[in-house]
Amino acid sequence: MRERVMTGDRPTGKLHLGHFVGSLKRRLELQESHPMTLLVADLQAFTTHAERPEEVRMAIRDVMLDYLAVGIDPARTTIALQSLLPELAELAAIFGLLVTVGHLHRNPTIKAERASLGIDEEQLTYGFLGYPVSQAADIVGLGGVLVPVGADQIPHIEEARRIVRRFNSLYGEVLAEPRALVGHFPRLSGVYGRDKMSKSLGNAIFLADPADVLRKKVRQIYTDPTRLRVTDPGHLEGNVVFEYLDAFDPDPEGLAALKERYQAGGIGDVAVKERLVEILDALLAPIRERRTLWEQEPTAVERLLQEGSERARAIARDVLSQVRSAMGLPLRL
Ligand code: TRP
Repeated sequence: MRERVMTGDRPTGKLHLGHFVGSLKRRLELQESHPMTLLVADLQAFTTHAERPEEVRMAIRDVMLDYLAVGIDPARTTIALQSLLPELAELAAIFGLLVTVGHLHRNPTIKAERASLGIDEEQLTYGFLGYPVSQAADIVGLGGVLVPVGADQIPHIEEARRIVRRFNSLYGEVLAEPRALVGHFPRLSGVYGRDKMSKSLGNAIFLADPADVLRKKVRQIYTDPTRLRVTDPGHLEGNVVFEYLDAFDPDPEGLAALKERYQAGGIGDVAVKERLVEILDALLAPIRERRTLWEQEPTAVERLLQEGSERARAIARDVLSQVRSAMGLPLRL
């Protein structure tokens, strides 16, 4: 039996190009050969969106549509909703016993997210600080061994590995250590450069963006500020158009030639952006089309999530009974 792939997304909005190269593309490849579970982590979304439940509710549907639109096949891949799986919450409570608060405070992704959201000591919830623990429960509880994620998630997978090792050392070799699989392009910048692409920073190109919005966003992309005329030599470092071309251009030789011309001052930003629009539109047009088809089937989409959650729950029940019995906890009243 092949190792199970498990990963997930917080439903806080639509998925974007950063998700695509960071993880979705890898998932599409793995789906061909491995059993896979995708978790729509709605409770984790509440760690930042507790005051916006309606947004989370709508984003659950958006993330589902994005999965189906990029080509996740629900006949092969299980798609589940975190809040429908109470076993994951129970497992998170157990895992919480194996992690120190100090260690969670040192998690680099937690630190970075706290800084960018401006969360001080008084605003820091137990749930936010502890979400890597709950994420470890998602992975282990759903039988995940291979975890395709973007670079920012690596500390969380490390945390899950530590928890599993600690559990096994205390209660016997029961749980498998998960491994992170970083995407083809683990970090993609936002259109304005510097920061990574993120919905909350308003610098994202979404998979669902219509062609005219795509064009407008590409026009805003940060290129080379030192360049005033087309004949000035262009720089590639920190140039987001070329970062995106590296990530998405299916023709590496053509791209190498284009870079040479750009550095020699032989081609302008407008023309290079034109090429990027073409490449991205070729990628996104079929995704957009499939999304529109699924949008017309809300009941079917809802049913897929229900059925997937039931399948995932059977796995979670099984893992939890192994965990309980390893710990010597009673399996029934
Ligand atoms: N933290 C992930 C994100 O922000 C979402 C997530 C929740 C996840 N549970 C997971 C990812 C389990 C991998 C495995 O996108």
